[in-house]
Amino acid sequence: MRHDHLLSAKQLSRGDLETVLDRAAEIAADPGAVADAHGDRLLGLCFFEPSTRTKMSFDAAMKRLGGDTVDMGSVESTSVTKGESLADTVRVVAGYADALVLRHPSEGSATLASEFVDVPVLNGGDGAGQHPTQTLLDLYTIRENAGFEDLTVGIMGDLKYGRTVHSLSHALTNVDATQHFVSPESLRLPRSVRFDLHEAGAQVREHTDVEEVLETLDVLYVTRIQRERFPDENEYRKVAGEYRIDAGLLDRADDDLTVMHPLPRVDEIAPDVDETTHAKYFEQAHNGVPVRMALLDLML
Ligand code: NCD
Repeated sequence: MRHDHLLSAKQLSRGDLETVLDRAAEIAADPGAVADAHGDRLLGLCFFEPSTRTKMSFDAAMKRLGGDTVDMGSVESTSVTKGESLADTVRVVAGYADALVLRHPSEGSATLASEFVDVPVLNGGDGAGQHPTQTLLDLYTIRENAGFEDLTVGIMGDLKYGRTVHSLSHALTNVDATQHFVSPESLRLPRSVRFDLHEAGAQVREHTDVEEVLETLDVLYVTRIQRERFPDENEYRKVAGEYRIDAGLLDRADDDLTVMHPLPRVDEIAPDVDETTHAKYFEQAHNGVPVRMALLDLML
């Protein structure tokens, strides 16, 4: 895989995807083999939005490769509060580290940052835009549990503001999966994403009720309604709590259905699903470490 930056899932070919997933599988099988692989390397963590999994798993991944991280910390503790621009912040941090992970509330911020620095920029989520490293661990989890052959995936919840969905749907198009998009009318995939998927050869099938497709699915990818991205709290309240799955509903699904979620969940997956064999979302979160190790190993 030869990329200077990882900004969008759109830049990843099927070959790139398989390269990262294969490397991640090798690392997961024998993490000791890479324990000193990048001992002299530092990864900069620039998170302008809350994060648990993305930040901690990048941190763990870099350290498990023998390297280390330098963390900007919370926005409140940095010069951003003095009015520093994103361009200046990343230019400075790029001088401290060999690669940067950036999470930022503005769509396009990772692309912007990449124009100002010479080290690789990894997009850890740019507003409602993209979240390509999440996609890699999502695909890894899908490949492990359902495989890519004859794959049918349902993606449910906030398809409008959910960046994990925008990235994942591109990658699923690349592995020729059949995709069903399930959401309230007001949270359908953005027109631009639908357009790009059509261009890439995907058939975008949209539904408002998951029961229309549940029985046909190999994977159900559930997402949180992205409350913080709604311009109007009343609009959020209209859809909050509407899209929820529980163990009773899943009785009607295939026994092998894999249920995923990028996490954090609010109320869209009832806790009774956790006890079923369908639940793979914690495994999915844990896969973030070997997958990000593989990515860093390949990019550094
Ligand atoms: C997601 C995100 O930040 O986009 N979380 C994650 O990285 N695993 C999903 C979300 O916040 O709902």
